[in-house]
Amino acid sequence: MTIRLGDEAPDFTADTTEGEIHFHEWLGDSWGVLFSHPRDYTPVCTTELGMAAHLKPEFDRRGVKIIGLSVDPLDSHTGWAKDIEETQGAAVNFPMIADPDKKIADFYDMIHPNASDTATVRSVFVIGADKKIKLMLTYPASTGRNFDEILRVIDSLQLTAKHSVATPANWKDGDDVIIVPAVSDEDAKEKFPKGWKTVKPYLRITPQPNK
Ligand code: BEZ
Repeated sequence: MTIRLGDEAPDFTADTTEGEIHFHEWLGDSWGVLFSHPRDYTPVCTTELGMAAHLKPEFDRRGVKIIGLSVDPLDSHTGWAKDIEETQGAAVNFPMIADPDKKIADFYDMIHPNASDTATVRSVFVIGADKKIKLMLTYPASTGRNFDEILRVIDSLQLTAKHSVATPANWKDGDDVIIVPAVSDEDAKEKFPKGWKTVKPYLRITPQPNK
């Protein structure tokens, strides 16, 4: 199945390290990050899961639930979680989906057979409170993801959702933002009381509205 930005995130039922979940019900009104890792008991994945556990309070602060997935079974996940806690200094504090029959991995197109037909690639799906796919990332097995970048993108997506702004290259929380072209100057006067600088009619820069 091909998933594209703006599609509804496919719903599923899964066995996880925190019991069976129904994905949409588990998400509730929260945003979500669903991320796959190639296999349990592998070095890069161990560091990623540890980093995600360390950063969980940052995801919580943004109202985002995180959930991992690999095609290994549940007993493998629970055994490996002990290694993650021991070596990364953080216990896994979010559910990990066991998908040994690759049902969810296939649904989300996480297996790229020319990379590996037995393991998932490093996929990331950011899902909005409306259950729509807001962002997709795909990394190869050999490159660990930058979880600070995932948080940065969530900050941008949530700003766009609330304030009709876009964010420029290399933007980070607190930097100036861009008024989206769909907002007229007339409407911008009301929405952006701090004002803006018109660099070009299509490039209007304003201070970050929620700062
Ligand atoms: C890793 O997580 O270290 C890994 C997994 C699969 C292939 C290569 C590296």
